[in-house]
Amino acid sequence: MCSFKKWFHLFIIFHALAATPIFSLTDSSDQHSTNFLDIAKKAEVFDWMVKIRRKIHENPELGYEEFKTSEVIRAELDKLSIPYQHPVAVTGVIGFIGTGSSPFVALRADMDALPVQEMVEWEHKSKVAGKMHACGHDAHVAMLLGAAKILKQHEKEIHGTVVLVFQPAEEGGGGAKKILDGGALNNVTAIFGLHVLPTIPVGEVSSKAGAVLAGGADFEAIIRGKGGHAAIPQLSIDPVVAASNVVISLQNIVSREADPLDPQVLTVSKFQGGGTFNVIPDSVTIGGTFRAFSTERLEQLKQRIEQVIIGEAAVQRCNASVNFFDEEKPLYPPTINDGDLHKLFVDVAGNLLGINNVITNMQPDMASEDFAFYQEVIAGYYFALGMKNGSADEPVQPLHSPYLVINEDGLPYGAALHASLVTCYLTKYQHNIAKVEGKHHDQ
Ligand SMILES: *[C@@H]1O[C@H](CO)[C@@H](O)[C@H](O)[C@H]1NC(C)=O
Ligand SMILES: *[C@@H]1O[C@H](CO)[C@@H](O)[C@H](O)[C@H]1NC(C)=O
Ligand SMILES: *[C@@H]1O[C@H](CO)[C@@H](O)[C@H](O)[C@H]1NC(C)=O
Repeated sequence: MCSFKKWFHLFIIFHALAATPIFSLTDSSDQHSTNFLDIAKKAEVFDWMVKIRRKIHENPELGYEEFKTSEVIRAELDKLSIPYQHPVAVTGVIGFIGTGSSPFVALRADMDALPVQEMVEWEHKSKVAGKMHACGHDAHVAMLLGAAKILKQHEKEIHGTVVLVFQPAEEGGGGAKKILDGGALNNVTAIFGLHVLPTIPVGEVSSKAGAVLAGGADFEAIIRGKGGHAAIPQLSIDPVVAASNVVISLQNIVSREADPLDPQVLTVSKFQGGGTFNVIPDSVTIGGTFRAFSTERLEQLKQRIEQVIIGEAAVQRCNASVNFFDEEKPLYPPTINDGDLHKLFVDVAGNLLGINNVITNMQPDMASEDFAFYQEVIAGYYFALGMKNGSADEPVQPLHSPYLVINEDGLPYGAALHASLVTCYLTKYQHNIAKVEGKHHDQ
C-alpha cells in the first residue's frame, strides 16, 4: 500500500518484525497495494459486507435514532473481538484496533438514513415507510466494518491505533460535533472519511487538496401580519405579500453583495402560509439554506439574512423572527482537505487502483458534510468513492434520490482504501518520528 521509495529501509524493518508482512520488501508497489483489495474482494469479506449493508438498508434509522444500526455494528465488532466505546453521541460506536497507544488515526462512517420513501423495488427494500438509506450511509458502515475486519487480521502490523468512528446524524444533526465534544478523538492526529458517488465508476476515486465541500446552515422565519377576509385587505396586514418580498430581497444578498469569484448560495426552499382562497393568514413561514466556503462568509450571510427578513417584513408592516437552529443543527464548516494527507491519498489510491483511476482535481460542490467538524480540529481527508453501475447507459440516480441504487461491487474498494490509508499513515508517522529523532541525535 505504501509505495514511497524513500521508505524502502522501513519495509525491511517491517519485514523483519512482522510474521506476515503486508509491506513487500520489493518496491514493486502493485504487489502490496493490491493486497488489501484482494482480501476485501474475497467472499469472506465481500459477502459479509453485502449482508450487513442489506440488513442496514432494510432498517433505516434517522439521525440520533440509529439504535438498531448501532446494535448491528457492535454485534459485528464483538465477533471480531474489537473493543469499542458506546454510547458516544447517543448511538455512536468507537472501535479500536492496534496497540492502543499513540499514534492514533481515525476512520469515519456515518450511520443515519433520510426521510425519503424508497421507490426501488428489490428484495432488500427499506421496510420502514418514509425512511431510506438514500445517501449510501448503509454502504459506509459496511465498508468501515470491512476495513475493521481486514485490519484486525493484520493487527500485529499496525504501529499505533486505528480508531473506528461510527457516527450518528450526519444529515443535519451535526453528529460529528457531538462525537468530538465527547473527547473520544482527543489523541487522533488524522482522520479519513469517504462518500459513495453514483456518478463515477466502481474502482475510481475523486478528491482534491483544499476545499471540497461548502459549509452551510439552515434558517426558518415566521412573518407575522394580521389575518382577515381576502376580499377586504385593508383590514388585514398581509404576510403573504410581505413574505414574497422577503424572498425576493433575500435573492439580492448573494447576487449583489457577494464576490462573484467566492461561491455562495442562498435558497428559500420552504414557503408555507394560508390554507384557503378567501382568507388572508395571520402568518407565513419561510425557510431555506445558505452555503459558502468559509465560516466567516457564513456568519456574514447569517447576519444579512436576519437583517433582510426583519427589515423587509417591517416595510410591509409585519413582524418577523428568524431561527438558525444553532442548538439542534449547528452551522457546518466547509470541508477542507489537508494537503499532506492528499499526497498520501494519491499514493495509496494510485497503488491500489492505478493512477488513472484517481481523479485529483475534483470539482468542489456546494453541498455540506459534517466531516468538516473533524477537520476543524484534526487533519482530515474526505474523498468520493465510485459506485456507478457497470452498465454505462443507465441514467444515474443522484444521492438523496428515492431511486438510488448502491452498486455493491464498490464495497471492497472502500474497505481496502480505508485499511490502506490508515496503515500507510501510521507507517509514515513512524518514519517522520524516526527522522525527527534522528535529527535531534545529530545535533
Ligand atoms: C489520550 O492520551 C492520554 C495520554 O497518553 C491518555 O491519558 C488518554 O486516555 C488518551 N485519551 C483517549 C481518548 O484516548
Ligand atoms: C409587531 O410587534 C409590535 C411590538 O411588539 C406590536 O405592537 C405589533 O402589533 C406587531 N405587529 C404584528 C403585525 O404582529
Ligand atoms: C445495474 O446493472 C445491472 C447489470 O448491468 C442491472 O441488471 C441492474 O438493473 C442495474 N441497476 C441499476 C439500478 O442501475
